[in-house]
Amino acid sequence: MSDNKSLPAFYNGDFMTLSQVNISPMDRGFLFGDSVYEVIPAFHGRLLGEVEHYQRLMNSLASIGLSLPYSIDDLISISQALLAQKPAFAFIYVQITRGVEATRKHRFPVIAEPTILIYSQVVEAAFGLDYQGCHGHFHEDMRWQKCDIKSTSLMGNILAYQQLYQQGHENDEALLVRNGLVVEAPSSNLFMAKDQVIYTPPLNNILAGVTRDLVIKLIHEAGFEFIENAPTKAMLLDADEVWLTNSYEELKPIITIEGKNIGTGAPGPIWQQLFSAYQELKSQKLKSQELKSQN
Ligand SMILES: Cc1ncc(COP(=O)(O)O)c(C=O)c1O
Repeated sequence: MSDNKSLPAFYNGDFMTLSQVNISPMDRGFLFGDSVYEVIPAFHGRLLGEVEHYQRLMNSLASIGLSLPYSIDDLISISQALLAQKPAFAFIYVQITRGVEATRKHRFPVIAEPTILIYSQVVEAAFGLDYQGCHGHFHEDMRWQKCDIKSTSLMGNILAYQQLYQQGHENDEALLVRNGLVVEAPSSNLFMAKDQVIYTPPLNNILAGVTRDLVIKLIHEAGFEFIENAPTKAMLLDADEVWLTNSYEELKPIITIEGKNIGTGAPGPIWQQLFSAYQELKSQKLKSQELKSQN
């Protein structure tokens, strides 16, 4: 986007615009990808799932041995201040790096002062119930083994999307296969339905998606049988429905995999039911936030 420079930002304790952020070339986030991040959706100035996202950020930080001089409440207040313009759809991007050291050493710096960047970005609305679905392709998972940490070292994810792009599938999704099992996509979690039973891979070195968690609650509320199990490629190809989840795209149906129709080759009834339930849950959560802020 051409006017990214004027985006409201919070950098190492101060509010500014993104163009005023001055990150050192010796920052370990730049040199090593030694950093973690979060992306939190916001609607009309209200954050969705902010406690869960910031709790996951704290978990990622703990996993890499980095402490932050801010609490979850502090981070939420900063994020809310950045959303003051209240656009219809936005996200908050948060990145914490292990900071700057004068020499480029792999081991942690002796004194680590984290670099903290948070900015808000206006985005287009995600799709609605009339969405026609997306195409999926299997891709060997080349990422590292600690994918539960939301690290900015995303080379495996980048190469998966780049390969799709080079094959002429820019808007399609990669379905990542590890040890013969399909575990997630480069930026979303995976669900499939077969004979009214819903499956999702267990949290075994994949990202614990905030949306995944909400969708599992909705699956239980709707009374479906639910099993945490990673499907093989064959199981996924034989599914009645497949969809992906993340905070921005919410629930995204996959209608073909490797050119083969999934179910009827159109978004299915379980996706429609859960998508609608998710929209309802989202508006309830946003309404209760509004009430809280009025009191
Ligand atoms: C690898 C990966 N899996 C799953 C997700 C979904 O997480 P969430 O629902 O919290 O957005 C993401 C989101 O960025 C991701 O990068």
